[in-house]
Amino acid sequence: MNRKERRAAIKRGSRMPAAASLSPRAGSGGNAAYHFNLATSHQAAARWDKARAHFTRAIVLGMDDTSALQSVLQTPVIAGCLHRIAAAWPRPLTATELFGPGGVAGIAAQAFLVCLLKLVWVRHPGLEHLLTRLRALMLGRVGDRANVDRKELALYSALAQQCFINEYVFAPTDDEIRQAIGLQENLSERLAKDEEISPLLVTAVAAYFPLHRLANVELLLNRKWPDEVGDLLRQQVREPLEELRDRGAIPTLTAIDDRSLPVRQQYEDNPYPRWIVIPPVAMTVHIPDTQRKNDILIAGCGTGQHSIDAALLFPHAHILAVDISLTSLAYARRKTREAGLNNIDYAHADILKLGALDRRFDVIEAVGVLHHLADPAAGWRVLLSLLRPGGSMRVGLYSELARRAIIAGRALIAQRGYPPTLEGIRACRQEIFRIKDGIEKGLITLQDFYSTSGCRDLLFNVLEHRYTLPQIKVFLAEHRLQFLGFELPPETLAAFRQRYSDPAALTDLDHWQEFEAANPDTFLGMYIFRVGAWQQSDSATSC
Ligand SMILES: C[S@@+](CC[C@H](N)C(=O)[O-])C[C@H]1O[C@@H](n2cnc3c(N)ncnc32)[C@H](O)[C@@H]1O
Repeated sequence: MNRKERRAAIKRGSRMPAAASLSPRAGSGGNAAYHFNLATSHQAAARWDKARAHFTRAIVLGMDDTSALQSVLQTPVIAGCLHRIAAAWPRPLTATELFGPGGVAGIAAQAFLVCLLKLVWVRHPGLEHLLTRLRALMLGRVGDRANVDRKELALYSALAQQCFINEYVFAPTDDEIRQAIGLQENLSERLAKDEEISPLLVTAVAAYFPLHRLANVELLLNRKWPDEVGDLLRQQVREPLEELRDRGAIPTLTAIDDRSLPVRQQYEDNPYPRWIVIPPVAMTVHIPDTQRKNDILIAGCGTGQHSIDAALLFPHAHILAVDISLTSLAYARRKTREAGLNNIDYAHADILKLGALDRRFDVIEAVGVLHHLADPAAGWRVLLSLLRPGGSMRVGLYSELARRAIIAGRALIAQRGYPPTLEGIRACRQEIFRIKDGIEKGLITLQDFYSTSGCRDLLFNVLEHRYTLPQIKVFLAEHRLQFLGFELPPETLAAFRQRYSDPAALTDLDHWQEFEAANPDTFLGMYIFRVGAWQQSDSATSC
């Protein structure tokens, strides 16, 4: 289960260990469906602006990514293109063959696709292929000087936003790269000379390179643009510049251990996870904890999805969120401001050096982090030393068994010598797309496969440790920690309960080991669990 799926599971009620219950705030899913249906009727009546506004609302209100993608794939125009790609495979289609009689206008009329491209990663091999071809077509249209109508411009602008979100993971041909570099130079020159710049030139360049890397890019902001391009400039110029300015204001809590430097570099280059939509609702958790003024430490908060989730879940808590990547922290701080939250403090720190911190916490969360440390056990011990008596930890660790396809993918990368660069990641993905069978084929079903930072985190990680349940059990025993339960989707918990009817089995790692052996994909995302320190009275009864 990837992070997005985990969050969907959380919404369905499994964020807490098995015993606790959760439910989404009433009506959030219903609102998304309401806006989606309304948008569909506006689209049918050719009220395009209204359709786009309500489709966007549906996505922002938490429409599930999988259903969103399915809706796009089932659209006759898109389904037709995908069918033609599949029928001709592997022969590349001409634009006329690919887009059919309606041409690009048929795709541009799909308001939902346009909205989705701006907000959600596209996770479908056929759709990725179609969009990659569409991007090449846009490149050609800049030279044509042909007129592009508003809908087509909106489509190209949304496509450029999608490319930015996935960090340019779509593989271009050498010829496209040459053309795109030429257009980028042309754009820079026109900016420097204050010459006319067509909106299409901006969208075409932005679909291949992030605009904020252009010299004098601020000058783009002084010009008047159609709304479609304005939104693209917000994403690719305003927001990245805001993050860059903010980096200097991020407080530093510790030095960075030399052993953490390669990992730090990876997450500076490719902050993870990439995410756009702030979850719309806090959960209604039926446990007193949500009302408490807990001190929470999020160790390795990444780009803030984790800390913002925690802040929404525990609105009365004081949260300290730390990470070794300043780029990730700057993104997290911008998204936190955007969410209007003021109970999270961010700081630059290395978990391995946090022991000297003069603060203690009721809850400490380290999800997807400890297994990237040079010495995970040492890092875990540092965090335990910061826990108040009676506190608990939420930990996420990779499962050796569940990551079989990823291990095979890493072996393929090592064998072929793919470097952890954009070009290496693109080339590796293309090879994996072409694999007919074999365990690596399963990688294309994982969300992280569809962005550069996701793929780097998933397959190219500079340092990853993996665990088995017996190893975790030994660590817990050595550190006198009580296992409180796994976070899993309700259907998995139901399957477990069907096999082991005794409620105590939920917190018995031997039973879970048996269950995992029979269901090896159970912890595909990670082992995510809570532990607490044994109290005197607990240990007395347990002996
Ligand atoms: C896979 S991301 C997980 C982010 C977040 N916990 C989540 O679940 O979305 C791992 C994060 O751990 C951070 N990290 C790795 N080693 C660290 C260390 N020694 N100290 C602090 N953060 C670290 C990385 O910079 C990265 O942002």
